[in-house]
Amino acid sequence: MCGIVGYIGKRDVAPLLLEGLQRLEYRGYDSAGLAIQGKPAKGVQSAGLKTAKAKGRVRDLEAKLPKRFAGTTGIAHTRWATHGAPNDVNAHPHLDAEGKVAVVHNGIIDNAADLRAKLAADGVELASDTDSEALAHLIGRSQAPTLEEKVRHALAMVEGTYGIAVLHADFPDRIVVARNGSPVVLGIGEKEMFVASDVAALVSHTRQVVTLDDGEMATLKADDYRTYTTEGSRTSTSPTTVEWEAESYDMGGHDTYMHKEIHEQVDAVDRVLRGRIDDRFSTVHLGGLNLDARAARGVRRVKILGCGSAYHTGLIGAQLIEELARIPADAEPASEFRYRNPVVDPDTLYIAVSQSGETYDTLAAVQELKRKGARVLGVVNVVGSAIARETDGGVYVHAGPEVCVVSTKCFTNTAVAFALLALHLGRIRDLSVADGKRIIAGLRKLPEQIAEVLRGEEEIKALAAEYANAKSMMFVGRVRGYPVAREASLKLKEVSYVHAEAYPASELKHGPLALIEPEVPTVAVLPDDDLLEKNRATLEEIKARSGRILAVAHRKQEKADHTIVVPRNEVELDPILMGIPLQLLAYHTALALGRDIDKPRNLAKSVTVE
Ligand code: F6R
Repeated sequence: MCGIVGYIGKRDVAPLLLEGLQRLEYRGYDSAGLAIQGKPAKGVQSAGLKTAKAKGRVRDLEAKLPKRFAGTTGIAHTRWATHGAPNDVNAHPHLDAEGKVAVVHNGIIDNAADLRAKLAADGVELASDTDSEALAHLIGRSQAPTLEEKVRHALAMVEGTYGIAVLHADFPDRIVVARNGSPVVLGIGEKEMFVASDVAALVSHTRQVVTLDDGEMATLKADDYRTYTTEGSRTSTSPTTVEWEAESYDMGGHDTYMHKEIHEQVDAVDRVLRGRIDDRFSTVHLGGLNLDARAARGVRRVKILGCGSAYHTGLIGAQLIEELARIPADAEPASEFRYRNPVVDPDTLYIAVSQSGETYDTLAAVQELKRKGARVLGVVNVVGSAIARETDGGVYVHAGPEVCVVSTKCFTNTAVAFALLALHLGRIRDLSVADGKRIIAGLRKLPEQIAEVLRGEEEIKALAAEYANAKSMMFVGRVRGYPVAREASLKLKEVSYVHAEAYPASELKHGPLALIEPEVPTVAVLPDDDLLEKNRATLEEIKARSGRILAVAHRKQEKADHTIVVPRNEVELDPILMGIPLQLLAYHTALALGRDIDKPRNLAKSVTVE
């Protein structure tokens, strides 16, 4: 949610910042801007700051950039609006009254209204409607002698979350950055330093990174960096190496990241399984779990928390854990959980699920749970992310970077990670060797079966053309099919803007059946389990109301107008495979309707605000 990038070194900074912004555009794309330290003439210490801002995409900013925009130090931002409409003025960087301070900010300043009122009462003219501008003025008005202290003074007045980068015309040799709740990563180069909200903007230049903790600040100079707390005490941080390659952020010959990421699932699922299966005991090894067998046996309940697609994988995870490990399990949106003063039970194992590891609601739920003494595990994609660091242990899902705003490969890999966790817990408890073997064999089949589903893309494309003009779409499933229906409905609406609803199939007759008509087709997820007959009865009910039906099943369904046939696996693993054709359905519907697939309207990846 909003992207920050900054650079200090010897290279021409504007092209570097623009490239970084392109890489971060998936975090927000309603406006963008940059500020650089102007190149001083001989004998002059500073030439002042130069800024450029534009509503729209990074390419709009690039088009607006003056030809001569030289300098070797700068900061930039791509925005997802929270306070104030997306326009040139509200775009970052924000400047203080004298134009000496430039600030880019991710997060939300909760007491912005108070700060703005106080500044206005002191005669400061605020140019924008944003919370972030207040910070620039507070820094600019501080009488402290150093930039670090000015920033510290300003932050002491701020309540809320931030990841910031600051330039000051009087301190042209440095960028000062700070973090509280919004990620800030330093990139350590050879006589050059980078800063970004996400490694995506750094990896083509350096893979040596330092991730700041909440309450930490850093000063970046071309050949040096130091980190310290917001109170000023030094912290010791040594760089780690990012495991993702720069190429994994490229489109790789596909027209969109969504298409690329759907097709990457064969390899991604192979990766989440790799090195974890233990055939000797028909179980799996999960290195970072930090939950020994005795503790695992003591777990009485499992509660899974996540948002959006992550929550949907949690629904799949809860079913897998209940089925394979026979531990009562359920999933809840993290955003709801954290606000309802939950009863925290010492025998419950809490699991936070997140692709980015940054989603604010999920992170806040983790923090609340930790504060109350709960044991919390993470199922996370981004290594070293906030949720990965705050949890007691967990499972990385190893999907590689997911750039498209809508989640596809991470959804699938997370569901597989849950199957591994359920198998592990099951084998410590009552799951038999034979069942362990059966599930392992099923997991091993997944990559080839995913490839088989993907080979049916042309057929799904034709179906998408057939259903693209629907007034609305209904998605239904029972038990194992229901989380798949929910996820498919979310995928369709966010990427194609076709309205969609998801219901447990058994709930249709309790109300939603009223919506069924030929213009409102139903997608029915029908695994070949013991509920298939019941599901067929639902199809009859839909047909009796002239509804059209697209089934996802293991064999052709007579009552359906069309069936997408997916290969059979173990029933417990059905949700993993059955979601994939519906990702393609959403993709091709969006394509048929001419949508901006990788950057759907109003959305951004990584929701780091409440
Ligand atoms: C949907 C989607 C979102 C995210 C949600 C949580 O396609 O991408 O619903 O799943 O914002 O994000 P993470 O997993 O990063 O916590």
